[in-house]
Amino acid sequence: MTAHAQVFDQWIRTRFCDLNTELEHLYWQQNDKANVDNVGDELKHQLEIEGRSLILPLLNEGNTDNGFDNAFDLLGNVGLYMGACRRHEITEPSREQSSPLIEASALAMHIGASIGVTPRFATAHLTTHNKALNGSYKRFTHLDDEKVFIDYNTKAILAYKRTADALIKIQPLGISHPITADLLHVAKQGLKDVIESNKLLFQKLDTDRFFNCVRPYYKPYRVGKEVYRGANAGDFAGINVIDLQLGLCFANEPSYSQMLVDKFLYMMPEDQLILRECMRSTSLMEIFLDAHSSGAHNGHQQPWYQQNLSLFLDVCQLHGKTAIQHHNQLVERFITKPSIGIAQQHMQKVTASGPPLHELLDTLEKLRDRRAAHQRDDIRTRYADIEVLKSSLVEVQT
Ligand code: HEM
Repeated sequence: MTAHAQVFDQWIRTRFCDLNTELEHLYWQQNDKANVDNVGDELKHQLEIEGRSLILPLLNEGNTDNGFDNAFDLLGNVGLYMGACRRHEITEPSREQSSPLIEASALAMHIGASIGVTPRFATAHLTTHNKALNGSYKRFTHLDDEKVFIDYNTKAILAYKRTADALIKIQPLGISHPITADLLHVAKQGLKDVIESNKLLFQKLDTDRFFNCVRPYYKPYRVGKEVYRGANAGDFAGINVIDLQLGLCFANEPSYSQMLVDKFLYMMPEDQLILRECMRSTSLMEIFLDAHSSGAHNGHQQPWYQQNLSLFLDVCQLHGKTAIQHHNQLVERFITKPSIGIAQQHMQKVTASGPPLHELLDTLEKLRDRRAAHQRDDIRTRYADIEVLKSSLVEVQT
């Protein structure tokens, strides 16, 4: 890391966090907590000019070639600054044609284009690639609820990744390999860990604090001319690797492939590679369905078939459970409910990705139902295939 990059990093970890926290305290004291107009203008001004003065030498340095990790980290710091300016409405994409943060935009675009990611901060910057120094990692504010949110996002993402890694390793071994059962056990455990982590997040996070003081930092903002959608915890390959490896979602279905196309550049380059590879492989569901039809006489009695199919169906069920939990608990409590009653002028700012809330909820509901293999006649789910596979389990038949 260069000396300028280090100074900027230090500012993000200290003064930047203090300024945001002070502003949050001021907003919180109002009756309309969502209002940021004419509040803390001096603090906002300080935030903007201090950030700009630290970014300028980095832009002039023009050197992003200190290795991928340093470049990615610097992009995160510029992104946190731009995200905070958006939160305090120092910038507002609907008000402007191009970001007034000219130096920050130029630096973000330079780095983003050079390392193959979107030129804004992404989830990885705050979760899986957020270096802690002496026990503290980077955050927007000192608020406890932000820490709870990031801690449990990081935990769940890492747990999903453990499941994804295990499932990918089954491909070269095949479904009848004796060690495939071990991998399916690891996959199950990862999803159980997601469920446990989400349960704790649901219990510990305060709805009003999250909705008013944490979520607004994840809004879309402009970099140069373009508006980039907000970051969300789903911007890593693992969740889609699980969808596709299990075969619960289909990479050739327009709405699902649209989502993948849209999220590629929000993921780390290594994740982009994994997901591309996975989009080209046959799902475990298809492989089990083939084994089912070719073993129709007595192949089903094979111990490997019984054991591994049963474990596979457990993994599918647990994946569905995490999706139900995300939609029916996390999204419902922390987004849908608090959106009811919010003043109309703030409504269009509720979602991180930009589309109106009802459209976003419809998309998330469909994802939930695909992952949970619910019976639906308007979208393709694996409900019928899972019923077929279940019927070949000896335990189920007796
Ligand atoms: C307070 C907690 C959470 C809330 C309120 C929440 C809400 C949302 C919302 C509203 C979206 C749609 C994108 C958008 O906002 O524009 C989304 C997407 C997503 N979130 Fe969460 N989320 C939470 C925590 C988590 C956690 C802990 C995970 C685990 C990794 C997660 C995984 C995902 C995924 C994978 C997506 C992308 C869509 C999908 O593939 O399902 N979320 N979330």
